[in-house]
Amino acid sequence: MRFHGNMRVNEKGHLEIGGCDTVDLARKFGTPLWVMDEDFIRQQCRDYKRVFIDGSHAGDVAYASKAFLTMAMAAIVMEEGLSLDIVSAGELYTALKVGFPPERIYFHGNNKGPGELEMAVEFGVGRIVVDNFYELELLEKTVNRLTKGPVPIMLRLTPGVAAHTHEYIRTGQEDSKFGFSLSGEDARNAVQKTLEMDTVTLKGIHCHIGSQIFETDSFGVAAGVMMDFIGHIYKEEGYFIEELNLGGGFGIYYSEGDAPIPVEKYAETIISTVCEKASEYDIKVPKIIVEPGRSIVGPAGTTLYTVGSIKDIPGIRKYAAVDGGMSDNIRPALYQAEYEAAIANKADRSPDELVSIAGKCCESGDMLIWNASLPEIKTGDVLAVFCTGAYGYSMSNNYNRLGRPAMVLVSGGQAELIVRRETYDDLLRNELLPKRLAKNASLTAASSV
Ligand code: LLP
Repeated sequence: MRFHGNMRVNEKGHLEIGGCDTVDLARKFGTPLWVMDEDFIRQQCRDYKRVFIDGSHAGDVAYASKAFLTMAMAAIVMEEGLSLDIVSAGELYTALKVGFPPERIYFHGNNKGPGELEMAVEFGVGRIVVDNFYELELLEKTVNRLTKGPVPIMLRLTPGVAAHTHEYIRTGQEDSKFGFSLSGEDARNAVQKTLEMDTVTLKGIHCHIGSQIFETDSFGVAAGVMMDFIGHIYKEEGYFIEELNLGGGFGIYYSEGDAPIPVEKYAETIISTVCEKASEYDIKVPKIIVEPGRSIVGPAGTTLYTVGSIKDIPGIRKYAAVDGGMSDNIRPALYQAEYEAAIANKADRSPDELVSIAGKCCESGDMLIWNASLPEIKTGDVLAVFCTGAYGYSMSNNYNRLGRPAMVLVSGGQAELIVRRETYDDLLRNELLPKRLAKNASLTAASSV
């Protein structure tokens, strides 16, 4: 198990995060509880900013909000001076609600709806990252209808580089739902088309090669392929594409075997490749943009659960069930993702048993951790699962009609509620009971619960 951010074991032997005793947090706010470490998030933002924005090749860093977004998170990103990567009007709405500058927003997505494009154009989103020809047409209509000036766009390309955790592959034929393919004529045609349109201004090109990547080579290869494209377009069209967005995907530690590398290393490879290619084609160095999501918020999040039933099958396995599961963290069930945990109220004890942590959802696949090495686990213990800050809350759901947990932001010994726990009424908020069904149903009984 690895502590990260501002974690330690305090005098009581309890796990402390951001100066807050997690056992106290569980008592005060209830469980399951998402705990987000504000200082850790800010530190990550600053590291990326220092390397990619303040460094010698002034670029940009857009936090990928799909990893985790709340109003509080949008406000933190805004304060830290990062840009924001969004993929829906919902994410846009959240950002705008806290006054996030629209010009610092990149709008992604392979099927943005007419309403989403309208909102983006209306509010002056900084870059619409156009994914396909259908979107180009839709955007043109939207801009004309709203009688707005040309909107700045990027084109999402599929560079034929797919990175997986420890390796990458180059595929000739890209099989992806995203972007204009670089292997055929699509990407080139898209550039030509946008250059003829007076409703858009082509600012840059974008690619995203994968997530949870632990090596720099794949970024280097992708940067090279994208720079070749920029170089060819310059030669053939005389048009210089000023911005190169290489997406996110920087890996974090979840469990043994994960070996994250410092941001500087990625930057070195990316920047040196881009510079070499720029001099090869005798063009300026484009502005380099990255979009980290997971690496900014993943390790900042810890989920606290209360241990309930324990089933010990002699000679086979010991299961301990917690009061959450795939509804607040679907990643183990969906991707066989691995996590590590500690017993928050026994954080000073060494592990002495293997126990598998089960969720409470009605599905055998709802297992959070197989074979966790922990001190002897008892009903009532507070279990802390680490590194749940990315794609936990954002992919949470109400399976089995479980309400989503509450979330606190911790810093300097203070914990503030940033997401309320969902109530039973929240679960029914959007439901309507047709009159013909209402006459025999006892609404009063339900509402008096
Ligand atoms: N930019 C683009 C265009 C992306 O598609 C993504 C992630 C990112 C940036 C941020 O990547 P990150 O730095 O967070 O790896 N639900 C999955 C992850 C899906 C990632 C999708 N795109 C999971 O829980 O592992």
